[in-house]
Amino acid sequence: MEIPTPKNPNLLLSNILVRLLSFGVLVILARLAYVITVKGRSCDSLDFCFFPQSLKSNVATSTTTAVVAANISAASSARLKTYYSSIFIDLIAQGFLSLNSKSLCIGAVSGEEIISLKEVGVFNSVGISLKKWSRPFIRFKNQTFGFVFSSTAGLDEALKPVEFALEVYRTLKHGGFFVVHTESANDAYSFASLLELFNSFTLIKSSEVDGFDSSSPLIHEIIFKKEKGVFRFNEKEQFLNGDSMSKCSVPSYKHELIKNAEPLIREEPLKPWITFKRNIKNVKYLPSMVDISFKNQYRYVAIGAKSYSLSIGSWFKKRYPKQDKSFEIYAIEANSTFHDEYRLRKGVTLLPYAAWIRNETLYFEINREASRKNGKRGRGAGRNQAVQSSSNFVSVFNKIQGFDLAMWLKSVVKERDYVVVKMDVEGTEFHLVRRLVETGAICLIDEVFLECHYNRWQRCCPEKRSPKYQNTYVQCLELFSSLRENGVLVHQWWVSRAERRERRIYPGEAGEECGWFE
Ligand SMILES: *[C@@H]1O[C@H](CO)[C@@H](O)[C@H](O)[C@H]1NC(C)=O
Ligand SMILES: *[C@@H]1O[C@H](CO)[C@@H](O)[C@H](O)[C@H]1NC(C)=O
Ligand SMILES: *[C@@H]1O[C@H](CO)[C@@H](O)[C@H](O)[C@H]1NC(C)=O
Ligand SMILES: *[C@@H]1O[C@H](CO)[C@@H](O)[C@H](O)[C@H]1NC(C)=O
Repeated sequence: MEIPTPKNPNLLLSNILVRLLSFGVLVILARLAYVITVKGRSCDSLDFCFFPQSLKSNVATSTTTAVVAANISAASSARLKTYYSSIFIDLIAQGFLSLNSKSLCIGAVSGEEIISLKEVGVFNSVGISLKKWSRPFIRFKNQTFGFVFSSTAGLDEALKPVEFALEVYRTLKHGGFFVVHTESANDAYSFASLLELFNSFTLIKSSEVDGFDSSSPLIHEIIFKKEKGVFRFNEKEQFLNGDSMSKCSVPSYKHELIKNAEPLIREEPLKPWITFKRNIKNVKYLPSMVDISFKNQYRYVAIGAKSYSLSIGSWFKKRYPKQDKSFEIYAIEANSTFHDEYRLRKGVTLLPYAAWIRNETLYFEINREASRKNGKRGRGAGRNQAVQSSSNFVSVFNKIQGFDLAMWLKSVVKERDYVVVKMDVEGTEFHLVRRLVETGAICLIDEVFLECHYNRWQRCCPEKRSPKYQNTYVQCLELFSSLRENGVLVHQWWVSRAERRERRIYPGEAGEECGWFE
């Protein structure tokens, strides 16, 4: 039987040498790459942690190897450290950070923040990076930290800001401070969304600090405190939910915003098809005026959507500025002719109903040809206008399912969501808007593109108004004005060229050649 130990002393020596050498190489590697090994202790007792993607699976274990990605030039690293040291010294001087606080840096990309914290004397500091890591806070227990700092690679990069806010709240101690650095929040809308996000905290201070170097933008430094027993995270949601008939208050920044929107066209245009075409260039989209980053989810609701390409494909997807956010899309369309084309669309939810002010079956006239001949076509021929909820009319009237738009919005949309609505409902807008305002559901909507239907001048025959709708331009203008007074950024919208083209081929719309859609 052979003993596995090498007997040859030379062999033994070379073995030892190899080991020594590889140990040496390891040490050098470790120094170069700042490899820090944690043995049975939590990471926070060490210099700092940074967790790249590859370490995901190690998170739950107590022995974790944390590697700092040290691919940043030494010079800029030194400047970053100086920069953060001055930031933290200021915070210490103002009493928001104490040397013995346990501290967390969120968005610690290369670790300078944590080194700086330690250099200024806050030894008990850890850092996490949000990038490539879906649940960065998971390892921290409730009320772990006395101080949480989010660099511009923190909140600004968070994919789910609401979750971010909840996790900061959870891990911060009562009486602890949360300091966020952001390059956003430059406009009142964005600042208000940020405050809304952290509304369980008390706002202590908001100021501007210099960026890292002269080329970087000014940074907003916002300081929050977590007070004991104040958790109002869902307060507004609850208030808005359900059947309550609550008018919502309109913050002043919304009025300011509306002042900057394109003015309403007050004079009834003699040639609306030209006026409206010109006006499209003036439209001030909300995302072109403000930063919409600090919202929870992004939603687009096409009410009276008709075909996919009309309201979504060739308009929302192509033209609406989305600031790279991905939107949840809802198409509300009762006409079953269009339903098939929605079934295959990913990310689009079809609600096969007519938007209405309550849940009920609606009946409307289908035999338009007959009534047009004797010149009475106009009377209530708007799609839901002629509705009756009595069943006597079934033989003459077609029926569709109406649903309560306001209540649906309240059940699906959250106060923190960003919501864009396009509404083209053939005259029903007057009922819908009133209901949205009465129920407070209007407050959930950020921006509206509204086609208001009125007895407009016709293209074919000057001096002649379209008999299809009864409301006047003045009434439409009142509707727009009242929405704007309610803090809703509403735009006078109209039939697009694509829409006109599509509508012309609708048999039911053939008569419109004489009017608007030519
Ligand atoms: C490190 O930085 C250099 C130059 O800035 C860059 O070319 C290289 O791709 C970076 N390496 C990694 C791993 O990020
Ligand atoms: C931690 O906080 C969360 C929310 O703030 C709470 O739901 C949870 O029960 C807490 N966990 C413990 C162990 O206290
Ligand atoms: C109204 O209809 C919608 C959509 O079908 C449904 O979700 C909602 O529960 C209904 N509401 C009432 C009060 O019946
Ligand atoms: C549904 O739309 C089609 C295509 O535009 C149109 O021909 C039809 O009249 C519409 N149906 C109803 C019930 O409005």
